[in-house]
Amino acid sequence: MTHIPNYDMSGKVCFMSGATSGINEQIARRFAQAGAKVFVISRSPDKVAATVEMLKGEGAEADGASVDARSFPDVEAAVAKCADTFGPLDMILAGQAGNFPAGAAQMSANAFKSVIDIDLLGTFNVFRAAVEKCTKPGASFIAITAPQATRPWIFQSHVCAAKAGVNMFVKCCAMEWGISGLRVNAISPGPIEGTEGMERLAPTEEVKQQYIEQLALKAFGNRDDIADAALWLCSPGADYVTGTILEIEGGCNLGDASTAMKL
Ligand code: NAP
Ligand code: COA
Repeated sequence: MTHIPNYDMSGKVCFMSGATSGINEQIARRFAQAGAKVFVISRSPDKVAATVEMLKGEGAEADGASVDARSFPDVEAAVAKCADTFGPLDMILAGQAGNFPAGAAQMSANAFKSVIDIDLLGTFNVFRAAVEKCTKPGASFIAITAPQATRPWIFQSHVCAAKAGVNMFVKCCAMEWGISGLRVNAISPGPIEGTEGMERLAPTEEVKQQYIEQLALKAFGNRDDIADAALWLCSPGADYVTGTILEIEGGCNLGDASTAMKL
């Protein structure tokens, strides 16, 4: 008998932080298209409202709340609202992040703390609140990390430290929560075309080309590359996958490939 992957998320409930723009918004759209009920949080009420409307336009049940992921009580209240509205959480995605290029000797303590709090504490807050309200067994947790978690990077010490922490947090949760039938993974996108993150890290065409030259695949990725992977990670096809950092990076994870020779 042929085994066809099943990506039908009908009736499933998805809670997503930082899903009102960029990569994570596309993941939210993909889950909505697959039939899931989607609840999004981010700071801006306007971005939340626009994303909820977009998801409803995809035919999904959708809701959201304006929440700063750095506040545990606010995240906890949003998770409770999601569970009250839609039922226990089947998919949980922590995707919020902050980034700006700054040297370790130049940035303020508060600048460093802001990124640690948004990326790392925010991921803890989302997972910690959601684990109380998720489907056991069966729920799938995903954090969005970055190549900076494993590659040191100039002017990115804050992001490298935060995302390295996210990777370790994911792996620890996978070990602790597997016994309850929960899977915990991360997706690490490489440079993704047309996103806020790349606007900040590669603001000119010259810097962008230097960046591309270093990549094994010689191109930026797109938001669908990441959305498709997230859908798979939450599908039955990934039932045996936990504690994994899924690198969808065009080879960014491999190091500088700018001296590669064409065959
Ligand atoms: P983005 O468009 O700026 O998305 C960031 C999202 O997080 C927005 O929805 C933002 O909405 C929300 N957010 C920011 N601070 C928040 C906070 N304190 N509390 C709650 N929500 C908050 O970014 P992106 O470039 O698509 O990146 C998305 C994710 O992919 C990030 O985790 C990033 O580290 C990762 N990543 C991106 C790339 C890339 O090429 N772009 C590469 C590797 C990894 P509000 O402004 O409304 O809060
Ligand atoms: N270089 C150095 N320091 C910077 C900076 C920059 N480009 N931008 C902000 N900071 C510092 C601020 O000066 C402040 O430090 P201070 O109090 O010592 O002056 C600290 O960072 C916090 O800034 P603030 O604007 O109060 O933080 P915030 O919590 O409102 O915003 C940021 C968080 C700074 C990360 C902001 O860029 C943001 O909201 N980013 C979300 C979107 C994003 O980064 N997307 C890409 C994801 S990969």
